[in-house]
Amino acid sequence: MASDDMTTHILDALSASDVPLPSNELFPSTPSAIVKSALDRLASRQMVQYETNDKEIFVLTPEGQEIVTNGSHEAKVFAAVVAAMDGLKISELPAVVGKDNAKVGQGNAFKRGWIKKDKDVLRATTDKIVDETQQQLLTVQRTQTLDDAKAVTDLKRRKLVTLQKVITYTASKGPKYARKMIKEETDLTPEMLANGSWKTATFKPYNFNAKGAVTPAGAFHPLNKVRQEFRNIFFEMGFEEMPTNRYVETGFWNFDALFVPQQHPARDLQDTFYIADPATADPPREDPLDDPHRPKSTQPASKATTDAPLDYKKYWDNVREVHEHGKFGSIGYRYPWSAEESLRLVLRTHTTSVSSYVLHKLAANPRPARFFSIDRVFRNEAVDATHLAEFHQIEGVIADFGLTLGGLIGFMEVFFAKMGIHQLRFKPAYNPYTEPSMEIFGYHEGLGKWVEIGNSGMFRPEMLESMGLPKNMQVYGWGLSLERPTMIKYGVNNIRELLGHKVDLNFIESNPAVRLEKN
Ligand code: PHE
Repeated sequence: MASDDMTTHILDALSASDVPLPSNELFPSTPSAIVKSALDRLASRQMVQYETNDKEIFVLTPEGQEIVTNGSHEAKVFAAVVAAMDGLKISELPAVVGKDNAKVGQGNAFKRGWIKKDKDVLRATTDKIVDETQQQLLTVQRTQTLDDAKAVTDLKRRKLVTLQKVITYTASKGPKYARKMIKEETDLTPEMLANGSWKTATFKPYNFNAKGAVTPAGAFHPLNKVRQEFRNIFFEMGFEEMPTNRYVETGFWNFDALFVPQQHPARDLQDTFYIADPATADPPREDPLDDPHRPKSTQPASKATTDAPLDYKKYWDNVREVHEHGKFGSIGYRYPWSAEESLRLVLRTHTTSVSSYVLHKLAANPRPARFFSIDRVFRNEAVDATHLAEFHQIEGVIADFGLTLGGLIGFMEVFFAKMGIHQLRFKPAYNPYTEPSMEIFGYHEGLGKWVEIGNSGMFRPEMLESMGLPKNMQVYGWGLSLERPTMIKYGVNNIRELLGHKVDLNFIESNPAVRLEKN
């Protein structure tokens, strides 16, 4: 019965009665959910008021039902014994009344004193019995209860009755009771205003308890939320953000400036994505903004006038010389350096390409400086649960005069403490562009183990001096992935749940921002 019909039935039933009506008597076969939804509709219009009553009732199991119709096990055994006239052999009982009846019924018939055993024959001791079990079940069927507690336990044990919870409603007329359901308007329309029907219309009241539909809105990706947390840490420590808008870089900035030799395995097709068209960049030329001959009027206002012009030709030659023969105290790699290789275009494999570009810009006006970047990098790697061909790097560099390795370690402790990692270990490592280099491990309280959290080092003097940075200036650098802390924070085990076509958009939309522990 639909809820619509149900409301009419309830209104009809109440019109004939001035006393509250229990739903189970009015609509014994209607599911209580339907009765409830009709009552709710009526109650919201104050046409009806109702109360909910929970109670427990006894109902017959199919076996109990069978006994109501055909008698109990023991009654059947008694009937079989009586019918046998001259006693019934015990061994024949199962064949006559069935195995179950024989098993349960024999014992009960003895207990009630209806039969006795005479050697291997059963005989009746009376000619008339009252089948109590059947009587009790009949009572349960009629009244859904039974006063005799002992009998109830017995019937339950014999699985003839079960307890059932029922919800019933007791409804009575409400202040706005009427025979017909009032049509409630949900909108005030121009027609209603024009024809005046708004004056008599009944408007549906606002339901201030309704949860309301979720408003469709954009959502930040978890990686973006964690990225913002890291940006805030960098900003509060006085860092400037580096421009990371170049996914495509030359081999020069991604590798050569960082003294990654041209035969280094990282420059292999297997590790690096090379651009097919165009395959190479133009040779280096003066940055038009650095041109001292450029008329003053066309110089952008943002350009710091104190910056010295950068000599690109000289820088390019320095890099070549360090690779080929060594310079600035380095003995070099001693191989013929190819300018073409340097101009090949790659998808940047690390954001250190951006750092090398920004550090070289710093040579125009060397000063203590702190830079960071958080953006995408690309590696031609096999994709698995923890690796994708693209990911995000968080990178920081600090340039200052007279920096030492101890200072780098000390800084790392402050930096990682800001994201809740308080125990660090450093392991000597190798990067072509830093010496010394250290892998950073952190003890993760949540995971209860040491995890690799980053790579760091002090940039080589031959890299910095090639750029024109002064000899007494040192630069720290470190990098870590954004995915790792995001996966740990959001409890994601497979990176493909975070990025790519398998991502569940609900997960992206509904996740709250996480906080890197502050202290
Ligand atoms: N580029 C390094 C990496 O990809 C990180 C790093 C940056 C190391 C700067 C030292 C200095 O892991």
